[in-house]
Amino acid sequence: MPDRAIGSTSVNATPSPAVMQQLLDSARRARAQAYAPYSKFSVGAALLDEQGRVHAGCNIENAAYPQGLCAEASALAHLVLAGGKRVLAVVVVGQAAQPVTPCGGCRQKLREFAADDAPVWSADLHMITARHTLGALLPASFGPQHVAAGTP
Ligand code: THU
Repeated sequence: MPDRAIGSTSVNATPSPAVMQQLLDSARRARAQAYAPYSKFSVGAALLDEQGRVHAGCNIENAAYPQGLCAEASALAHLVLAGGKRVLAVVVVGQAAQPVTPCGGCRQKLREFAADDAPVWSADLHMITARHTLGALLPASFGPQHVAAGTP
C-alpha cells in the first residue's frame, strides 16, 4: 500500500527537515509557557498529527505533586481535542545535562497513538540532543491491539 501523503509528510516516513524544525520551534515556544514552580524544570513538547498539524504542550505542575502533567500529555490532550488520530513525530525540549526524553508514563501514552518507528527527538534551546524512535524507548510495548485481541 502506498504511503498516504500528508503535506510534506507521509505516514511511514520521517518528517521533512522543515516539519521537524516546525516541531522544534513549537516545543521551544511551549516550554516558555511551562508552569513548573516546584521542580523549576520546564519542558515543552510538540506532536505531528496525521493531518500534518502540530500540537504543543508544556508541563503543568501542582502543589499536590503527583497531580502534575507532563508536556507530552498536555500536547496529546491538544491533539485529541483537535481531532487528531495519530502521532507521527514527537519533539521534547528541556534544558539538562542529558537529553530530555519522555518519562515512562508518557512513552506509554504516546504509544496509544504512535507507531514504533515514530521519531522522538530530544532538544534543548540550541540543538537536537538525541534522536530515538518510540519503539527504541518503549520496546515490546503493550498497546491497543492487545486489548482488541483480548478474550474475557
Ligand atoms: N517532565 C515532562 O513534562 N516531560 C518529560 O519528558 C520529563 C519530565 C516534567 C514533569 C515535571 O513537571 C518536571 O518535568 C520535572 O520532572
